[in-house]
This record gives sequence, C-alpha cells and structure tokens, in this order.
Amino acid sequence: MDTPTRKPLDRHVLRSLLSEKSDFWTRVDVVGVTGSTNADLAEAARLGAEEGRVLLAEEQVSGRGRLDRRWESPARAGLMLSVLLRPTLPRELWGTLGIAAAVALESALREVCGVQAKLKWPNDVLVDGKKVCGILAQAEGGAVVVGAGLNVSLTAEELPVPEATSLLAAGARTLDREEIAAAFLTRFAAEYRTWQEQGPGPAVARWERNSDTLGREVAVSFPNGRNLTGRAVGIDADGRLRVDPGDGAVETVAAGDVVHLRPRA
Ligand code: BTN
Repeated sequence: MDTPTRKPLDRHVLRSLLSEKSDFWTRVDVVGVTGSTNADLAEAARLGAEEGRVLLAEEQVSGRGRLDRRWESPARAGLMLSVLLRPTLPRELWGTLGIAAAVALESALREVCGVQAKLKWPNDVLVDGKKVCGILAQAEGGAVVVGAGLNVSLTAEELPVPEATSLLAAGARTLDREEIAAAFLTRFAAEYRTWQEQGPGPAVARWERNSDTLGREVAVSFPNGRNLTGRAVGIDADGRLRVDPGDGAVETVAAGDVVHLRPRA
C-alpha cells in the first residue's frame, strides 16, 4: 500500500465545520506533538479548565490505551483527540461516557466515511472484526477526559498489530480528518447532552444495537489475572458486560480485556 498524503490538520477548518453544527465545544486546540492528549486535558482539568475543551495532536509520544497499554500511530495518520467534560450525573455512571463516545464514532464513520463499524465491549470500534478506534475515558477530580484514537490513513504495514485496521484499509470514501473529527464531535456533544438529561440508557441501547460482542462466546481477562469464558448476554445500565459461563450464574464484568472467540452463530 502506498503511503497516502497526510496533510496537517487545519484548526480553522475544523472550528468552522464544528461551529456550523454544535455550540458545545468552546475551545479546540491542535498541537503538533505531545505526550498524550488525555494527560494534557487531565492536567488542564486539575487546573480548573471548563468543560467543552477539545485537544487534537498530530503525534503522541506516550499515547495511552486501556489497561496500561500504549496507543501508537505515525504522525498525521490518525485522529488522536481528547475532550474535557464535567458531568453532573453520579460518578458511578461516568464509565458509560466511553460507550457514548463509541456510539457517536460509529455514527460518524457510517455517515461520513460510508464504513459500517461494530462495537466491541467496552468501547472499541471495529471494522471487519478489526479495531479501527480505541477510546479511553478517565476521571480527573470532578472532570472526565474522553480520548479517542482513530486509525485513518495507516497502511497495512503501519498497523501496530494484525487485529488493527484503518479507514484506508477499510476503503472509506473519505479520509478527511477535519470532516471526520467534526462529525464525531458533533455527535458526541449530542450523545453527552442526552446522557446528562436521561442517563446512560439511550447510549447503552444504541451500543447494543451495533454490538459485535453480544451473543458471542468471549474470553475475559481480568486485571488481577483471572480468566472467564462464556457467552456475552448483555450489558447493564452501568455499561458492565454480562457473561454467562454456561452454568446460568451470569457474571457482571466491570473492567477487563475481552476476546471474541468464535464468529457469531
Ligand atoms: C484503547 O483502545 O486502549 C484506548 C486508546 C485510546 C487512545 C487515545 S489517542 C488520544 C487519547 N490520548 C491518549 O493518550 N489516549 C487517547
């Protein structure tokens, strides 16, 4: 695969696309290189920054993933962005903001890129069974930072693992990063408003409709090293995965790594 042209993000274009559609994002910054956009906005949150901030980086040198993993992408080949929120709902619901972000991204990819994505618990976005986007939500005092890493123009050779894909590899009809970012942020602002007004129910229901996990045999690795195998039978209102190991004693999983074991029956 040839390396595609990777023009820098134009923050004026992004701001103008966004301002046409959403008034929620009050400050949008683009940096060339940083450690991690999540870490930067977490620091801003500690210093009292208000909700509605967006930070995009062309390159991250210590991008963070879930479960202490790293997130890596060549410069300008992906969308690496974080947003700062100050939710008023109880803290125990904040984890579902990752689900709301995944739902917003699925919709943006379908409508802007013509790509049909599916969602893997808790908030990975898959195309053709491979991960195109990862989402990391972290609480910071009274704020939540939600970060998304989307593989846009990575070639097959540049993908970090065989289980990853990119919009380029998936044949997306556009790789325009400003357009994709604006579509995602517009939809996420709307999801967040609904979340604040009605709780996580609507986002959880949309996640279920586009889920690639539900109904499948899955293997769950817990952070403490324990493993669980069973059928993913649902998610609860707090976004936790319900797994039936086969003996009817359904277990509720709040955090862990999930592998889809077999194609859906
Ligand atoms: C995962 O799937 O493990 C989550 C990956 C999240 C990566 C994004 S890239 C932008 C933001 N900044 C980070 O350091 N991480 C998130």
